Amino acid sequence: MNHVILATTSTELTAKVDAATGGRFVAMPAMPSAAGQVLALAGGVPEVVVLDSRPAAEPMLQLTADLTGLFPGIGVVLVSDQPAELGLAAMRAGVRDILDPSAAVDDVRTVLQRAAQLTRPQTPPPGIPLPEDLGASGRIISVVSPKGGVGKTTVATNLAVGLARAVPHSTVLVDLDLQFGDVASALNLDPEYSLADAVHNPARRDTMVLKTFLTLHETGLYVLCAPESPAAADGIGGDDVGRLLQSLATQFRYVVVDTAPGLNEHTLAALDQTTDPVLLTSMDVPGVRGLRKELDTLTDLGMFAEGRFILLNFEDARSGLSIADVEATIGRDVDMTLPRCPVVPASVNQGVPLMQLGGKDPMTRQLGRLVDRFADVPLLAAKPGRRRGRHRGVRVGAR
Ligand SMILES: Nc1ncnc2c1ncn2[C@@H]1O[C@H](COP(=O)(O)OP(=O)(O)OP(=O)(O)O)[C@@H](O)[C@H]1O
Ligand SMILES: [Mg+2]
Repeated sequence: MNHVILATTSTELTAKVDAATGGRFVAMPAMPSAAGQVLALAGGVPEVVVLDSRPAAEPMLQLTADLTGLFPGIGVVLVSDQPAELGLAAMRAGVRDILDPSAAVDDVRTVLQRAAQLTRPQTPPPGIPLPEDLGASGRIISVVSPKGGVGKTTVATNLAVGLARAVPHSTVLVDLDLQFGDVASALNLDPEYSLADAVHNPARRDTMVLKTFLTLHETGLYVLCAPESPAAADGIGGDDVGRLLQSLATQFRYVVVDTAPGLNEHTLAALDQTTDPVLLTSMDVPGVRGLRKELDTLTDLGMFAEGRFILLNFEDARSGLSIADVEATIGRDVDMTLPRCPVVPASVNQGVPLMQLGGKDPMTRQLGRLVDRFADVPLLAAKPGRRRGRHRGVRVGAR
């Protein structure tokens, strides 16, 4: 029994489930109202879901019916001090067992173990945390910058690895730097397939087929690598990118997108689907001025009036620029900074991201904070950025 989700407001029940499972359970932060919320938190299809029906039985019966309707093998245990009243309704909803909240820890353990033993292998398999039709969609976090070489790939790979480690099977990283993408090298991967295969395949709309083009990294992160050569990227349009990201967001809690410098057609198509834009710049005058233009362009396009996350890389006391200078130039606050740190090039050259190495240096610590920022955001509040009207590529800054 290693995949138990608990939904209750009772600290007493939480303590019992904690003792019964040896701490191997995940507590919902609030009572769920939709199956997608349970699956999103579980990062997949859980074996056992414990729903406390004492505050309100009807919504929990409905949720049970939704979960067991989608995944007939799932073991739902309802907590109730009036089991006789639930009776037939519980049976019809597909409840596996009813747990008396006054039960001793040993009895709680027995009920959970029995529910887990009866659990049949689930389809879809683990690694597909957000099935379609559940009303839940993953967050799409795109890392963009007007200039090249400012750390987009460093940030995207580390953020993705951090999220994948925080919530197993939750994250896919897409290398949208279609001509010169280097995510595969940053993660030391030798991919069999690339993004070009995924968008050109005749069955590309089938999400199960799409998954077969992903490469699994040793941290549990799924990756869709850039095509091997710039020529192989020919023929991939903005619409292809939009569809691809939409599909991945039905399958993964977090879709992290690394991009090429500037706002080209592919990046704009990604931003149309993006729920969380991370706007990155280096701490130098050309970089900061480029960011200012990029912010103005996004404003002109009517994108992300709110929710732009400004990340400043290469923070260095000797740069001659202060954060206040940067904020004055861009006309808004910086959300987070990353220090210039010699561990970064070493990790890129080895192909092992800092979030995998888990060091104690200032950059790794700060990247950990960045991961926490995105891991904590509630899923269902996500809204993509969509442009006003249809613009093709916009040139802002240069490589
Ligand atoms: N905080 C940092 N401290 C030191 N070096 C860094 C830092 N961030 C990035 N680098 C280094 O800067 C270089 C460029 O980083 P990266 O490839 O992530 O940038 P990029 O924006 O993706 O570039 P491109 O636009 O060419 O794709 C790399 O060699 C990386 O190791
Ligand atoms: Mg890059």
